[in-house]
Amino acid sequence: MTSTDLVFDPYSYEMHEDPYPTYARLREEAPVYRNDRVGFWALSRHADVVEGFHDSARFSNAEGVTLDPAASGPDAHKTMSFLGMDPPKHGRMRGLVSRGFTPRRVAELEPRIRELTRQHLAVALERGTFDFVGDLAGLLPMDVVSELLGVPQPDRAELRRLSDLLLHREEGADDLPPAAIEASLQLVVYYSDMVAQRRRRRTDDLTSALVDAEIDGDRLSDDEIIGFLFLMVVAGNETTTKLLANAWYWAWRYPDQRAKPFSDPTRVPSWIEETLRFDTSSQLLTRVTTQEVTLHGVTIPTHERVALLVGSANRDERVFADPATYDLDRPERELQQIASFGFGRHYCLGASLARLEARVCLEELVAAVGDYDIDNAGIVRVHSVNVRGFATLPTKVVPR
Ligand code: HEM
Repeated sequence: MTSTDLVFDPYSYEMHEDPYPTYARLREEAPVYRNDRVGFWALSRHADVVEGFHDSARFSNAEGVTLDPAASGPDAHKTMSFLGMDPPKHGRMRGLVSRGFTPRRVAELEPRIRELTRQHLAVALERGTFDFVGDLAGLLPMDVVSELLGVPQPDRAELRRLSDLLLHREEGADDLPPAAIEASLQLVVYYSDMVAQRRRRRTDDLTSALVDAEIDGDRLSDDEIIGFLFLMVVAGNETTTKLLANAWYWAWRYPDQRAKPFSDPTRVPSWIEETLRFDTSSQLLTRVTTQEVTLHGVTIPTHERVALLVGSANRDERVFADPATYDLDRPERELQQIASFGFGRHYCLGASLARLEARVCLEELVAAVGDYDIDNAGIVRVHSVNVRGFATLPTKVVPR
């Protein structure tokens, strides 16, 4: 029985400040939690979250992976592509797209990512004081996704603005605000034009490759390609921006941990992994039950929304020692259990790209920066139902 004072509301601004004490209570007191007001269930223990990701027969993606009603339902795949599909449709689309994400193709992007990072960093360092998100972390992932898809440079700022609008939630609102709906319509128009252009003339990018992609004589429709472009911007952009800023913030909060990558750049990957665990940018993913599911003596009926609390799984004391401690020296066996990229057939297609972007960007930072400070009073959080991170992180750097 859940005690009445235990409320998990992912729309509340208070929860965005610090969800972790609530997650800890959920794991202990209500591992199968029910929120009647918003209408969803939540699994918070690591083992249950892993099970939810793996068991796609009982936990379906077909109605999307967010709690927002306007982005949920049988049309979810229109803006989430194969993330909003179950087998066999999921496998067909993912198979076509994964050709753009082979380890070789991702590795080939490294020089270009480094070049882009250096460009943005040079401008920021010149100023000495800058917004880590607006001037660096918010630019790079969009650049990289845009390079992959073939979005021209002059259009990138507007696409970033629209994708930020897609995510922002007003305090107290349980659904997409009108500005987010308007932004999504504008994105559809933009991408429709882009696909039409590629159909007329192919270029060397993933969008052109998708126009030509074929499985058993079957081609992707315009709507399918547009859905995928949408997914790339939301999945590949915000999450990586937030990962970078979360790494920057937590290293600032814990100088003893910061000293590790700053004195030895080969420690940058452990900085990334521990940030992914400690405070991941994608806090929850939703599924819909296809049948009754009984866990810990509680039965979730058929066709109910279930949130898999990734952010909580990463803090589960059953798996991670001292989970509330930010520690860059965690053993490999713990790091392998991080839930931040999901598990199973929907495992993040961009995980190696995200890690590459983060490594290159943080390597360039530790090479150029001796130390830094963040203006606590100027920090602004993002308010989103599932994405956790900063909108503004005012930073002052001391160059090396
Ligand atoms: C730190 C950065 C990132 C995080 C934390 C993250 C997290 C995730 C998670 C948790 C999922 C699984 C969702 C689910 O099962 O419901 C996922 C799926 C996905 N991600 Fe990422 N992601 C990141 C970066 C990226 C990047 C850079 C790209 C591509 C440019 C990307 C593309 C995708 C795609 C296409 C899927 C759907 C896979 C499928 O449904 O089969 N992600 N991501």
